[in-house]
Order: sequence, then C-alpha cells, then structure tokens
Amino acid sequence: MSEGPAGARERLVYGRRKGKKLRPGRQSLYDEALPRLKLILPEAGDLDLPTLFGEPKAACWIEIGFGAGEHLADQAALHPAIGFIGCEPFLNGLAACVSHLIERDLGNVRLHGDDARQVLRALPAASIARAHVLFPDPWPKVRHHRRRIVSTPVLDLLSRAMADGAELRLATDHMDYARWMLRHCLAHPDFDWLAERPDDWRRPAADETPTRYEQKALAAGLKPLYFRFRRRTRGEGEGNLPLVFPPALA
Ligand SMILES: C[S@@+](CC[C@H](N)C(=O)[O-])C[C@H]1O[C@@H](n2cnc3c(N)ncnc32)[C@H](O)[C@@H]1O
Repeated sequence: MSEGPAGARERLVYGRRKGKKLRPGRQSLYDEALPRLKLILPEAGDLDLPTLFGEPKAACWIEIGFGAGEHLADQAALHPAIGFIGCEPFLNGLAACVSHLIERDLGNVRLHGDDARQVLRALPAASIARAHVLFPDPWPKVRHHRRRIVSTPVLDLLSRAMADGAELRLATDHMDYARWMLRHCLAHPDFDWLAERPDDWRRPAADETPTRYEQKALAAGLKPLYFRFRRRTRGEGEGNLPLVFPPALA
C-alpha cells in the first residue's frame, strides 16, 4: 500500500507477491546478484537512464509483469545494444529472472521487484522506445476489472514515458481482456493501433520471442491475441479516435 497523490490509499499490486520458498541455490544467487541488477528509483526527479546500464545504450525498453523472465532474457540477448527495464512484483518470478540473466551473462537488464507504475512515474518523459505488457493477469470477475494493469491511468503513464513513435505491445489469451485492451487503447488519444490485417492480431510480431504464459496458452489450445500500438508523435493532433473493433472481437 502507498499514499496516492490525493492522500487516498492506493493499493498498487494485486495478486501473489511470494510463492514457494526459494531453493537455497536460487536464494543465494538472488541475494548475491540482485544488488547489481536492481533498479534504484530516485527519491526525487527522473531516473538517470544514460548511467543505468553502466554504458550508453541505443534505447531503453520496458517489460511490465515479466513473470519468470524468459521473454525479457531472450529479448535482452537478441538486442545487446538496448537497455531493458523489467518490472515484476512476484518474488519467485524475480528470482527466476535473476537466474536467467546470470546464466546467460546478460548485463543490459535492470529489475524492479514491485509495481511497474513506480518505474513509469520515475522515467524521463519520452524515454522509452518499446513497452511490453504480455499476458497480464486478466482479473475476469467484473468487480476485479479495476485491477487490470491495462487501464487509462497506466496508458497515461506509458504515454508520458514513451518516445514519439515508440511501440506498446500487448498480448492476452483472455477474450474479454483483449476487448478491454482494445477499447482502452483505441479510446486513448496518444496511441494508434498498427494492425492492418487479422494476422497482425492473431500472430505475434516477427521479432517476438515466446513468454511462459503464451506457451501454456498455446499448449492448452487457446488462441492468444497480440496488439501493437504506436505512441503518437507529440503535437500530431490528438483527440479520441472512433472505436473500431475487428468483427472477430466485436
Ligand atoms: C499472468 S502473469 C504473465 C507473466 C509473463 N508476462 C508471461 O507471459 O509469462 C502476469 C504477471 O504480471 C505481474 N504483475 C501484476 N501486477 C503488476 C504490476 N502492478 N506491475 C508489474 N507486474 C505486475 C504478476 O506478478 C504476474 O507475474
């Protein structure tokens, strides 16, 4: 829990923070490596991205809710010139990700073991070139919908942090959340949907790597949906777009 800006109590993270006790090997790797990999948020002002990764990076990408970190580690390995920030409040996921990064000797990732909104608020404006929110918790009950991370306030934070033309990539295997994602992103003045044909939302982008949840969904015969949005150029003429749902999702 933390204090919101208006003084109201704001619950930041829903869902599990801890699972099984970590195995001793993983616990000691985590204890030893996390201080090096951990993102330190500034008390005030913006994160200093140019010094964050120990060397200058061509761009910074963020992954929100990386789970056990397979996608984050694969992307970091594929794009060594990019600096990655991963956010994941589930301790066991964070520890699994630390293991992947150490095993693969990946130095271009920094991890935040808490709510992604704290990072989004601390990022310099227009500093992020790509954001991933892949298979976020669907919170299927109507009374829990307000817990969904894809929401207007989070899109506002992403819009501020993302550079002009930056990509926001979303995926889900939950049809109601897919419609919710589209509704919120299409109604947001700063994002344009990049889809041109059904395969653009039925298949991941060609340069994507799978996530653990995606693999589980595919193995269970589900058909995940993938959405790519472009952060509009600032001053390009903002205003609500008409809601245009593809027939399959309407
Ligand atoms: C269903 S899992 C998907 C994990 C991973 N993206 C995948 O596809 O395998 C969603 C993850 O989002 C994380 N999460 C929930 N709330 C979050 C928040 N406020 N900030 C960052 N991550 C969050 C959860 O802890 C969980 O690990």
